[in-house]
Amino acid sequence: MQKKLSQTQRTHTCGALRGSDIGQEVVLMGWLASQRGLGGFRFITLRDRFGLTQINFEREVDLGLFERSNQLRPEWVIAIRGIVISRGENINQSMPTGEIEVIASEMEILSQAVVPKFPIRNEINANEELRLQYRFLDLRREAIQKNIVLRAEVTYLVRSFLHKEGFLDLETPILTKSTPEGARDYLVPSRVHPGNFYALPQSPQLFKQLYMIAGYDRYFQITRCFRDEDLRADRQPEFTQIDMEVSFTNREELYDISERMMASIWGKVKSVELSRPFLRLTYQESMARFGVDNPDLRFGLELREISDFVKDSTFSVFQKTISNGGIVKGICVPNGAKKITRKLIKEYTKYVSIFGAKGLAWCKIGSEKWSGSIAKFFNKEEQKRINKTFNAKENDLIFFVASEHKITNSALGNLRKKIAQKLELIRENDDQFVWITDFPLLEWDEETQRYHAKHHPFTSPNLDDFSLLETDPNNVTALAYDLVLNGSEIGGGSIRIHQHEVQSRVFSLLGISEKEANEKFGFLLNALQHGAPPHGGLAFGLDRLIMLLTNAKSLRDVIAFPKTASAACLLTNAPSPINQELLHELGLLIKEDKKS
Ligand code: AMO
Ligand code: AMP
Repeated sequence: MQKKLSQTQRTHTCGALRGSDIGQEVVLMGWLASQRGLGGFRFITLRDRFGLTQINFEREVDLGLFERSNQLRPEWVIAIRGIVISRGENINQSMPTGEIEVIASEMEILSQAVVPKFPIRNEINANEELRLQYRFLDLRREAIQKNIVLRAEVTYLVRSFLHKEGFLDLETPILTKSTPEGARDYLVPSRVHPGNFYALPQSPQLFKQLYMIAGYDRYFQITRCFRDEDLRADRQPEFTQIDMEVSFTNREELYDISERMMASIWGKVKSVELSRPFLRLTYQESMARFGVDNPDLRFGLELREISDFVKDSTFSVFQKTISNGGIVKGICVPNGAKKITRKLIKEYTKYVSIFGAKGLAWCKIGSEKWSGSIAKFFNKEEQKRINKTFNAKENDLIFFVASEHKITNSALGNLRKKIAQKLELIRENDDQFVWITDFPLLEWDEETQRYHAKHHPFTSPNLDDFSLLETDPNNVTALAYDLVLNGSEIGGGSIRIHQHEVQSRVFSLLGISEKEANEKFGFLLNALQHGAPPHGGLAFGLDRLIMLLTNAKSLRDVIAFPKTASAACLLTNAPSPINQELLHELGLLIKEDKKS
């Protein structure tokens, strides 16, 4: 007697059978994707993550089985034994298995399913909340599944690449102490030490440095990081880094390893050869030309500064801004006079106000002179000079923002991206990597009236700027770098401070007292006094990388079990209240007004 189907192995996946298999007896298992009856035939398609196969129940072949097949419903899991036959003239070109079908001789229902909340196909109307609540169904959809499978392939590629480069895959603690990456920590109360908390790591930064000090000269880890910050489409509260650290190294070596790693991913996943070395821009250059430190280089619309030409202008907005220490910059939109309506200008004026710009001036370039609200303030000579700066032609439109540096750059830098999207100026399928280098070491925070580390406090200042540390801290650059792809920061890192005295000096510049430094990072300061090699590294955001590789719109489409914008998991309903007993055990009391 033949074994029950459920006790046998499947012989093929649902995506495997081809014309060359015709005549074989096969066993397939999968989910019922669709069904239709046609006289004495009942066709179903069986689905697994490898594809779809058409199964045919024929009344003529087996009446009992034919009648039993009638009860099958979508998403039931079934096993089929049958013979592979040719579909003859009815080949389905859109299916890789479309040459064949399987005539069923035996069928076993492995498990039944309730009616799914939404159909399992790529185009669905279900809202995202429902999809996240029934994520196990959503993950069956090919559109999501292919992202998750690609993610697994990329992590495998990265592991094998770094292993070959001599990196050790090493772990670091999850229950740990606060690490300063600039976001809020997620905290875990300790039962054994009531009133004390662990912090979940924002990154393994300090532990990977300790590995270097301990002599494990090349470390990597594909690891989860936790940051309690305001979420956006490209931010999740828990996300994954490809985290790396190298001893006795320099920036060039780290750029080289990273570029070859990217090239190996792009080669395998996209079959394209990336041109190396990648472009580099200093932070200053990037801000000057693109207004942001994550420039998208797939289109032009570069920013130009015209402060010098307009400082004596009769347009008081420009003139006053400059005399108050601000700047005037602009972007020139080719053919913008024809493409950009008054309504759009209004919309853009509102948009730049988000970044603090008080207005958005503009002019259209005519054959002789400018037109537009501010044209009258500029004589022919001035107009000519400005046209030349932007290389502006007839029918172009120039937008101007006058404000302090920071506002001018971020307003125009973001407007640049918005206009490129609207006018479809972005060259898709032209991935543009760029290293942003030489970030400032410090950033002045108006609110707290103190310096913050632009990257993190363990980043080494550029040795050439060392003498400026106390005298002119604003102009000290750091040995820090980001890798930007198509306008997204996909990775960042730095050469670290490996000398105790330097680390103490930087802490004191950051307004961290000796006492505070010892409380927070005493273990690092201590380790730095026990023989620390020069070292540096970086971390890539794996989720962002996969998002860009798959052209996904949101990180949620490349993370199997993501959180919503309000940091909730709709599948499990986390976070959730805990009972009184547990609270008591942890020594915690929830304030009445904080109860939700
Ligand atoms: P950084 O904070 O720049 O550096 O993080 C490295 C990369 O991680 C990604 N990333 C995120 N992705 C998704 N959601 C988030 N909330 C999120 N935050 C960051 C970005 C970013 O480039 N310890 C340092 C690295 C180092 O110095 O070696 C660090 O964590 O792609
Ligand atoms: P107003 O004189 O206020 O009517 O402004 C004339 C034009 O200058 C309008 O198009 C404003 O949007 C623009 N404008 C006002 N303030 C600024 C500014 N700070 N930068 C750029 N344009 C501005």
